[in-house]
Amino acid sequence: MSGPRILAIESSCDETGVAVVVGGRRIEANQVASQVALHAATGGIVPEVAARQQLRWIIPTLEAAIEQAEAAWDDIDAVAVTYGPGLIGSLLVGVNVAKALAVTHGKPLVGVNHIEGHIYANWLTDAPAGEPLPPEPEFPLLCLVVSGGHSQLVLMHDHGRYTLLGQTVDDAAGEAFDKVGRLLDLPYPGGPAISQAAQGATPVTRFPRARTDGAYDFSFSGLKTAVLREVQGYRDRGEPVPVDGIAAAFEEAVVDALASKTVGAARDHGVASVALGGGVAANRALRATLDDRLAADGLSLRVPPPAWCTDNGAMIGAAAAHRLAAGDRADATLEAIPNLSLPWLDGL
Ligand code: KG4
Ligand code: ZN
Repeated sequence: MSGPRILAIESSCDETGVAVVVGGRRIEANQVASQVALHAATGGIVPEVAARQQLRWIIPTLEAAIEQAEAAWDDIDAVAVTYGPGLIGSLLVGVNVAKALAVTHGKPLVGVNHIEGHIYANWLTDAPAGEPLPPEPEFPLLCLVVSGGHSQLVLMHDHGRYTLLGQTVDDAAGEAFDKVGRLLDLPYPGGPAISQAAQGATPVTRFPRARTDGAYDFSFSGLKTAVLREVQGYRDRGEPVPVDGIAAAFEEAVVDALASKTVGAARDHGVASVALGGGVAANRALRATLDDRLAADGLSLRVPPPAWCTDNGAMIGAAAAHRLAAGDRADATLEAIPNLSLPWLDGL
């Protein structure tokens, strides 16, 4: 057996995830209870509701993961949990359950940063035990982390060593998808719905690309306003809103912004590989465009399968293995930190 077997819990937002991961790579179990259907009714996440649902689902999800892994507590080497960033009420559920499990079963406890989890999803594999593992991403690794709460371009020098190259100055990419989805009367969450509407559609217009002060920063709020104005124009004229064509134009603008900054950063920093993470990494157009543009520079793109891009416990188990190897140990004083950031190295 290679490396520790970690039971990992993710409860930072509206997904309840529990996984068992060996050696930071091999998934033995990965159970996710999603609240998407519930939040669709309100068109977005209500934090109080999300927290209550975390409480409702954490134990059944934990039991399902342990059953799937066919693991006994004797076989588990550590318990890991997301302690931020995220919604405080949701985070607290996972953190408290993880503490209780670690204390009860006498296991080391590892606190994991949610963003680090999204990055480490690129190390995961579902290759069965005994089969060779796919190669690991190479350093220096450029990571574009794009989720509902975050949009960051991160230069990863080695395990646990990060430089923040750029980030959104307003909305996160996923947030922009969700808000524009609402403008277009598409179901929640907007990301997958827009992606589906845009597929095969011709963009109705070319939305302006935002200019930002930082070379690798993003901005999506102007684009959101441009979409609103476009929709309003059709309504004012009494014309039907061409949802698919607007979705395509919006998606094209977001993908273009994300891809051009990422390719620029990859060039400027001479990285060995490029990886995607976070819910928006599930976007087909983003994956295809980035893959094409990087290939022109002789770089290949790593992207986890869509199920590992959105929130899950396995990615937390992958990141935890390196935290554990580095000697990071939490204890019963571990607190949930809603605005937790990665431990950035100073400068470049
Ligand atoms: O990483 P994640 O599951 O949760 C956060 O940590 O925020 O990301 C959720 C976000 C949502 O905003 C959702 O609309 C977006 O990821 N998303 C997508 C797609 N699938 C999920 N955005 C664009 N295209 C998709 N296919
Ligand atoms: Zn996430």
